[in-house]
Amino acid sequence: MSTTFSYPDPRLQEELKRTAEAIVAPGKGILAVDETNEGIGKLLAAVGLQNTENNRRRYRQLLFTADDALSENVSAVILFDETVYQKTDNGQSFIEVLRKKNIIPGIKLDRDVVPLFLSEDEVTTQGLDDLGKRCAEYRRQGCRFAKWRCPLKIGERTPSVQAVQDMAQVLARYASICQSEGLVPIVEPDVLLDGNHDIVRAQQVTEVALATLYKALNDHHVFLEGTLLKPNMVTPGQGYPRKSTPEEIAIRTVTALLRGVPAAVPGITFLSGGQSEEEATLNLNAINTVPLKKPWALTFSYGRALQASVWKIWAGKDENVRKAQAELLKRTKANGLAAQGRYVAGSVTSIAGDKSNYSANHKY
Ligand code: 13P
Repeated sequence: MSTTFSYPDPRLQEELKRTAEAIVAPGKGILAVDETNEGIGKLLAAVGLQNTENNRRRYRQLLFTADDALSENVSAVILFDETVYQKTDNGQSFIEVLRKKNIIPGIKLDRDVVPLFLSEDEVTTQGLDDLGKRCAEYRRQGCRFAKWRCPLKIGERTPSVQAVQDMAQVLARYASICQSEGLVPIVEPDVLLDGNHDIVRAQQVTEVALATLYKALNDHHVFLEGTLLKPNMVTPGQGYPRKSTPEEIAIRTVTALLRGVPAAVPGITFLSGGQSEEEATLNLNAINTVPLKKPWALTFSYGRALQASVWKIWAGKDENVRKAQAELLKRTKANGLAAQGRYVAGSVTSIAGDKSNYSANHKY
């Protein structure tokens, strides 16, 4: 075994680190709007709209043209490929709109899941082959970071060693390619909410996943200061009969992170994974107030937990755009406070606030 390797050029290190740190600046987090065309199709259908390019554009325009105050709590937005090239009604590119607001555009790079042959009915993610070229193109378009999600399902015999190792290797290779092209990689090992397991089992699986992931990232010499982690919170499975309090979720989540995530990583940006809007905010707040060591920034990178009420209020109608935008600002403000441990339970109410956003085998 050879232990010689290189570090990235100091200028590249500096740029990656600066971007990663800006994304997790105090009180700020990520708005994740990287639903695939299939994923957003279900949301459009629920408001009676067809899944056309223009309807997808109209919805995302609503988000990006919200009041400039959006950037008080949103540092970055994760886009889907199509959105990178879309424009507002006035012909301004979405990327331009975001950059003018001082919001950093990023891109989802995984190309969906496929079965992992001979595993316990598990999946792997695709998209590594032409990844260098895609990274270079998105960087040219103005993106400065990326995300790649690898789901792991908890069951009696899962996740398997095969699935955990595969997740770690795929994410490490992705992270390495991103950095070589000047993008900050967000690595997302998503231990799903699906299942009947208790919170202890969720903690164990999360710890194994994180330990395996960071060994692989180190083996690939990924520059950790220029990365971010997007994990699940440690919660019981959706089918488990007893809910945990935010305090218990916070203790188990931060404990698992302390055991597996090096302090060199600047920030941890949680996914919401099907939690209700209020739950996701309360849990993030508890995570930030728990009396444990916290060497990284702990913030949000929510999709459903930032948008559920926005969809309900918009309902596909132009006349509701302003109200829906105001709702987005309410949710981002609440989570910005939670990221600083300053959110007061129930202080920001929303139309879908307490409604679970869980759906089995959720398709992003
Ligand atoms: P949710 O917050 O809806 O789980 O989405 C997270 C995500 O990975 C999208 O980028």
